[in-house]
Amino acid sequence: MEIHKENPELVRGLFSDIAGRYQVVNHLLSGGLDFYWRAIAVRLIRPWHPTAVLDVATGSGDLAMAIGKANPKARIVGADFCRPMLEVARKNGLPELVEADGMNLPFADANFDVVTAAFGLRNMASWEKALSEMARVLKPGGHLLILDFSLPTLPVIRPLYRFYLHHILPHIAGILTNRKDAYEYLGVSIEQFPSGIKMTSLIESCGFKGAKAYPLTLGTVSIYTAERS
Ligand SMILES: C[S@@+](CC[C@H](N)C(=O)[O-])C[C@H]1O[C@@H](n2cnc3c(N)ncnc32)[C@H](O)[C@@H]1O
Repeated sequence: MEIHKENPELVRGLFSDIAGRYQVVNHLLSGGLDFYWRAIAVRLIRPWHPTAVLDVATGSGDLAMAIGKANPKARIVGADFCRPMLEVARKNGLPELVEADGMNLPFADANFDVVTAAFGLRNMASWEKALSEMARVLKPGGHLLILDFSLPTLPVIRPLYRFYLHHILPHIAGILTNRKDAYEYLGVSIEQFPSGIKMTSLIESCGFKGAKAYPLTLGTVSIYTAERS
């Protein structure tokens, strides 16, 4: 069956299947750039002096761990709806983990001062619902950071990247994971996911203000930050 974000069971099944290889494949396919993207995210978060951070769709916990390392006094909670991914995060040393759907978070209002999601929001059935939940659990004045894929805007780079995304990446990733369909889905999900001003507008319509976009690596990845209204 074709994977699409409106079917959370298929998305969860896909991440359950690839959980054991997820990190290695990530590092290989990004050529190690994922370390750099997380480092930029951590640099943007540091001036917010976080004390309680929720990393939604934490997966293997890479971003949560990096934030924890840079802010050793902060409480870091990782939430994900896929248990095998949470088991990877636990093995990686992330102590506080919660099995939860990003669109229905089991936390009281105004619980955290920073909420993050790396490569997770794109996979959720309703981006509005997920962003509104993130706003709800944030204290007023708290900060949001979203890190995710985007499509380059440069005229020559964009078609080349799209060719890579749809015709090369699924073959390589299919060999590495045995789940070529997962990486066909990745391309489709990146095409559908808003970026730039469309994403900052979406974020601001869900309980945030001052949304900013930071395109990285020729615009193939973007970081968005915003403040809870
Ligand atoms: C591509 S991985 C990203 C993991 C990690 N944040 C990272 O940067 O490597 C996407 C993660 O989102 C999780 N996810 C997708 N939809 C979700 C939802 N509705 N609620 C919670 N987690 C979700 C998946 O289980 C998976 O672990």
